[in-house]
Amino acid sequence: MYYSRALITLLLSLMLLGCNDEKTPAELSSGEELYNYYCKDCHATKGPGPYMEHYSRDKAMKPYKVILMIKYGYNQEKHSMPTFDQLSEQQADAIARYVVGLQVTQLLNK
Ligand code: HEC
Repeated sequence: MYYSRALITLLLSLMLLGCNDEKTPAELSSGEELYNYYCKDCHATKGPGPYMEHYSRDKAMKPYKVILMIKYGYNQEKHSMPTFDQLSEQQADAIARYVVGLQVTQLLNK
């Protein structure tokens, strides 16, 4: 009896774990998810706004530039941005497209 109760408890907890569809950072794949995880907090406090809304209009971003920034970091005199070695090429690419898309959307809405 004791064993079967323990077994049921174990099975129930496994089922609960199975239902948990939270992704680990390595499993994130869409640009939006990745941006929200890796970039947004910092951009809300240090960079040009959570969604780059304070980004200057006359500097159009290109996806390859954003990918280079993600890979090699971005340093200006006062501010700096870390590198993201943990991101795969596909993830960096997805973020870059998302960021450039954000900028385009913002310009259209101005
Ligand atoms: C540790 C804080 C930090 C994190 C995390 C961070 N950034 Fe930045 N980022 C900065 C700072 C600081 C700047 C420079 C802002 C400025 O020019 O005033 C910047 C600038 C940028 C710019 C504009 C560059 C330009 O030409 O002015 C882009 C694009 C950018 N970040 C993308 C990203 C992406 C994509 C991620 C996530 C992979 C990310 N950042 C994560 C701090 C961060």
